[in-house]
Amino acid sequence: MNTYGFNLTPMISKDKIQSRLKEIADAISEEYKDEVPIFIGVLNGSFIVMADLLRYMTIDCEMDFIKVSSYAKTESTGTVRLLKDISADITNRHVIIVEDIIDSGLTISFLKERLEGASPKSLSFVTLLIKPDITSLDFPIDHIGFEIPPEFVVGYGLDYDQKLRHLPEIYRLEGNLK
Ligand code: PRP
Repeated sequence: MNTYGFNLTPMISKDKIQSRLKEIADAISEEYKDEVPIFIGVLNGSFIVMADLLRYMTIDCEMDFIKVSSYAKTESTGTVRLLKDISADITNRHVIIVEDIIDSGLTISFLKERLEGASPKSLSFVTLLIKPDITSLDFPIDHIGFEIPPEFVVGYGLDYDQKLRHLPEIYRLEGNLK
């Protein structure tokens, strides 16, 4: 299909995303049933996952956001830079980091190290999407929505040149990308 001049092929439907997020929220609600975990979304991509995931939660919870640079991850050295820190004090809290996608694993590894430095009670990880063959990940991701092939995907928070984040499902973006 052609949307806003982009050649998009549907990959994961609205219904599939929603039912998977509900399953994950149910599991987290059960896991932390006597606690008040704090979700930390990684801007910008995770803002829609955060909004939907949290609305499926059946226990009390809090939320905050963090933002890191995106461009540095393409360098072979793979440095990630913090652009906006969390506001909450996560000392002794159950913290759940929420990503839209884990690609190389560099961003989530950076966040793990950084947030561990703030002495949370526990740190766990949720991602809607993950790509195979991640080399730089040496810890498990607790909740994974979908494993996808190594293709460029957009929609549901994921962008191409900051566009297409608002689409309600995940699409493969075809054609020559800049
Ligand atoms: C995307 C995504 C993750 C990161 C994953 O963010 O939201 O944060 O890349 O890639 P990695 O596993 O290779 O580190 P991006 O940097 O594109 O910024 P955005 O969230 O603003 O789109």
